[in-house]
Amino acid sequence: MFLLLPFIVLIDVKDFAQTQGSTIPPLCQKGYFPCGNLTKCLPQAFHCDGVDDCGNDTSGWATIFGTVLGNVNNVTLTQECFLNQYPQHCDCKETELECVNAGLQSVPVISTNVTLLSLKKNKIHSLPDKVFTKYKELKKIFLQHNCLRHISRKAFFGLYNLQILYLNHNCITTLRPGVFKDLHQLTWLILDDNPITRISQQLFTGLNSLFFLSMVNNYLEALPTQMCTQMPQLNWMDLEGNRIKYLTNSTFLSCDALTVLFLPRNQIDFVPEKTFSSLKNLGELDLSSNMIMELPVHLFKDLKLLQKLNLSSNPLLYLHKNQFGSLKQLQSLDLERIEIPNINTGIFQPMRNLSHIYFKNFRYCSYAPHVRICMPSTDGISSFEDLLANNILRIFVWVIAFITCFGNLSVIGMRSFIKAENTTHAMSIKILCCADCLMGVYLFFIGFFDIKYRGQYQKYALLWMESLPCRLMGFLAMLSTEVSVLLLTFLTLEKFLVIVFPFSNIRPGKRQTLVILICIWTLGFLIAVIPFWSEDYFGNFYGKNGVCFPLYYDQTEDIGSRGYSLGIFLGVNLLAFLIIVFSYITMFCSIQKTALQTAEVRNHIGKEVAVANRFFFIVFSDAICWIPVFVVKILSLLKVEIPGTITSWIVIFFLPVNSALNPILYTLTTSFFKDKLKQLLHKHRRKSVFKIKKKSLSTSIVWTDDSSSVKLGVLNKITLGDSIMKPVS
Ligand SMILES: *[C@@H]1O[C@H](CO)[C@@H](O)[C@H](O)[C@H]1NC(C)=O
Ligand SMILES: *[C@@H]1O[C@H](CO)[C@@H](O)[C@H](O)[C@H]1NC(C)=O
Ligand SMILES: *[C@@H]1O[C@H](CO)[C@@H](O)[C@H](O)[C@H]1NC(C)=O
Ligand SMILES: *[C@@H]1O[C@H](CO)[C@@H](O)[C@H](O)[C@H]1NC(C)=O
Ligand SMILES: *[C@@H]1O[C@H](CO)[C@@H](O)[C@H](O)[C@H]1NC(C)=O
Ligand SMILES: *[C@@H]1O[C@H](CO)[C@@H](O)[C@H](O)[C@H]1NC(C)=O
Ligand SMILES: *[C@@H]1O[C@H](CO)[C@@H](O)[C@H](O)[C@H]1NC(C)=O
Repeated sequence: MFLLLPFIVLIDVKDFAQTQGSTIPPLCQKGYFPCGNLTKCLPQAFHCDGVDDCGNDTSGWATIFGTVLGNVNNVTLTQECFLNQYPQHCDCKETELECVNAGLQSVPVISTNVTLLSLKKNKIHSLPDKVFTKYKELKKIFLQHNCLRHISRKAFFGLYNLQILYLNHNCITTLRPGVFKDLHQLTWLILDDNPITRISQQLFTGLNSLFFLSMVNNYLEALPTQMCTQMPQLNWMDLEGNRIKYLTNSTFLSCDALTVLFLPRNQIDFVPEKTFSSLKNLGELDLSSNMIMELPVHLFKDLKLLQKLNLSSNPLLYLHKNQFGSLKQLQSLDLERIEIPNINTGIFQPMRNLSHIYFKNFRYCSYAPHVRICMPSTDGISSFEDLLANNILRIFVWVIAFITCFGNLSVIGMRSFIKAENTTHAMSIKILCCADCLMGVYLFFIGFFDIKYRGQYQKYALLWMESLPCRLMGFLAMLSTEVSVLLLTFLTLEKFLVIVFPFSNIRPGKRQTLVILICIWTLGFLIAVIPFWSEDYFGNFYGKNGVCFPLYYDQTEDIGSRGYSLGIFLGVNLLAFLIIVFSYITMFCSIQKTALQTAEVRNHIGKEVAVANRFFFIVFSDAICWIPVFVVKILSLLKVEIPGTITSWIVIFFLPVNSALNPILYTLTTSFFKDKLKQLLHKHRRKSVFKIKKKSLSTSIVWTDDSSSVKLGVLNKITLGDSIMKPVS
């Protein structure tokens, strides 16, 4: 245990150093976008609700939102009103008028020199012809939450100075061509949450100053071709949540000024190669949650300034090797929920500035080792920094390795030292200990490589998982588990034959046992070595995770390795487990019956409890070792997502349980062994102490679990093999 202390200290210092050294990246976290000069991040959902989330930061987007804001601060409302005429429930400040929630059913009559008109949350259902024509000074109109249905074609005529128009959260279904014709100064047009289905080519005629266009959550089915020819200033276009099915190579033609293009939650299934080729200034592109199955190789070729790309939740089948080759400025790439069967480092290498990447699974992170932040940050076993992400696991891998190795080695030693009467059985047990010891060796190696790669695992992850040591370790662990399982089954069956069929003489002799043991090792070896046979079929069977143990794969892995792993764990091992459980139950029943017939009732209960306890622990240790594995395997068959954490705990805690407990169950606690130990101590004491009363021959009867003690019982003449009743001498 003292050996562990330095490691614990080391871990703590390391963790501390990491938290101290890491700096917060300038890029906003996922789902947020930068506000102002990247000093503040705002949730993406905000980007058109017209609320000042940026505070009073006066740079970048903050300025834009500042101008949109108008006078929502009630501080300014105390100022003088310059309008002579306006409805009662409205708030007037200089030439700005707010009639929020005033129950208005139509646009009220106001002094003509009004510059800002907010009619949010009223009951204005239609806008007739030329309703605003009188108000030539109007710069901003807010018409949200009115359930506006009908907008006449000439509703906005004459608003030559209008800069900002909010029409979001209404019930608009159609916008007539040319409705925005006079809005030459319009910079912001917000049409979110209307059931608009179609927009025509002429809709945007005259919007030559439009900077920001937002049409989130409409039913738009297609975009007009060359929409930017009428809106050359268009900078930010948000078309999230529509029903756009396709984009053509002329949709965004001449959208040179566009810097942000949001197209998530549409039904786009095909993007032609030249679609984005005019977007020379594009900084952010979001195509997430669409139905894109394939991306042309050169789709992103001209997006030289792109910083953020979101392709998540698309049924993409394939990424070309050079898909992202020209995105030199890209900082964030979202590929969540995308399988990348052909993943390799070459895909991500060209994006030297990439600092954030989001994948479907942690394993992919090892293909982008130069990216600072990769999500998901762990597969439950490893993290970007460490082979073993969890501190408890890091420590316990050593503890369990130590217990397993030490326990098994000491049993091998003791068994060799103390001469057993039944050498065949002793040999089987020693062989079992050898197999179990390999598990300890495997865990030591895991611990060692964890320390070796600590803090910089991402750089070596791929190399490590594909390396020979990893494969060999996987092989070792597999060999150990399988040989151990087969040996336990063999030992159980041997015992079973002796106890349940005591008179039949079918116990294997020394030579037969030897042959069986060799067969078991050969079989174990074959099981563990077969995955090396064909790389095509099994892929890298062992190197699928940091601990190199082929326990659980997600649904996407090679059919070969999945099937094989399933066959071993749910086939061979489950069968072995069931045989063991069945045999012990039958043995227990059989012994109970014999005991009832022969033994005195008084002795009988204690004996029975002892046998039950021992058998229970053997079955129980097997169960805690294997049941989690079976459950995980069955769940994965049912396509249930299993957190990687569970895999790592199984590999480091549950699987070695058997290996660690076997020495105790099969040697250290057997009465034969205890007796031998007692005798040794006794002898020792006899030598040192002057005189000692000779212990009277005990007539008590013990159940022993060692097949070496095949003797006839005193009370009954039935040979019970492992569990005979014999007097302690
Ligand atoms: C990408 O889009 C998805 C869904 O549209 C969103 O949840 C995710 O946060 C986006 N990723 C980034 C990096 O913004
Ligand atoms: C952002 O602007 C503030 C002033 O508004 C300035 O102090 C800060 O240094 C700027 N940050 C960057 C990264 O430019
Ligand atoms: C920004 O707001 C803070 C308080 O929130 C205030 O102290 C500061 O003066 C403001 N700065 C500007 C430029 O308005
Ligand atoms: C601003 O509004 C708050 C309540 O929303 C009110 O308490 C406060 O007095 C108002 N300030 C002014 C200057 O009217
Ligand atoms: C707005 O118009 C009214 C007359 O309708 C006039 O009395 C007022 O001075 C005007 N205000 C400004 C700022 O021009
Ligand atoms: C757009 O694609 C069509 C074929 O779909 C092609 O004929 C046309 O030349 C392309 N236009 C541009 C600008 O690439
Ligand atoms: C990476 O970004 C920095 C600024 O953030 C820029 O100066 C540099 O040129 C970029 N690298 C490449 C390869 O474009």
